[in-house]
Amino acid sequence: MSFLDLAAKRGSIRAYKTDPVSEELLAQVLEAGRLAPSAANQQPWHFIVVRDEQVRQRLQQAYAKEWFWKTPVLLVVCTETKRGWVRQDGKNYASVDGAIAMDHMTLCAADLGLGTCWVGAFHPAKVKEILGLPDGIEPLAMTPLGVPAAEPRPKIRKDLKEIVHYERW
Ligand SMILES: Cc1cc2nc3c(=O)[nH]c(=O)nc-3n(C[C@H](O)[C@H](O)[C@H](O)COP(=O)(O)O)c2cc1C
Repeated sequence: MSFLDLAAKRGSIRAYKTDPVSEELLAQVLEAGRLAPSAANQQPWHFIVVRDEQVRQRLQQAYAKEWFWKTPVLLVVCTETKRGWVRQDGKNYASVDGAIAMDHMTLCAADLGLGTCWVGAFHPAKVKEILGLPDGIEPLAMTPLGVPAAEPRPKIRKDLKEIVHYERW
């Protein structure tokens, strides 16, 4: 599959089968995250894999959708702000780096026939408490990882002419 075909194939999946995800497939997805680039190669990320059903059920307190917590595997990408590269104007790139790792993983999952859905609308304090995150480690994004039970929605995207600017704005 070409990269553009893969990018078109990946879409948010909000319905999953209960089929398990093998350790081998999970390892490939995590490896895709590990290989992601990061500012100054700081790799300011941690990936938490949640398979335990009780923990998944508890995560309902952070994000209540059934398609999320009932999926056999949840991935939580966390960032370590103090490891993020800081630009001269003070902008910390840890979140950018974590998002790239997450995107690598969602694309790898799609390549393997697995579904994902970025979840950002969660209660961070609940995730921190339930997963026991130490101070300085922030949950950035979560996704279920499982066998899709539905096709992604059709892609709705802006036209290139709305977003591409040549030479200057
Ligand atoms: C940073 C980020 C946060 C998101 N948070 C949520 C979320 O909390 N819940 C949800 O259902 N989808 C969430 N999404 C999925 C977007 O709604 C989805 O990516 C977008 O509508 C485009 O659709 P597609 O992923 O199928 O291409 C999020 C996506 C991104 C990139």
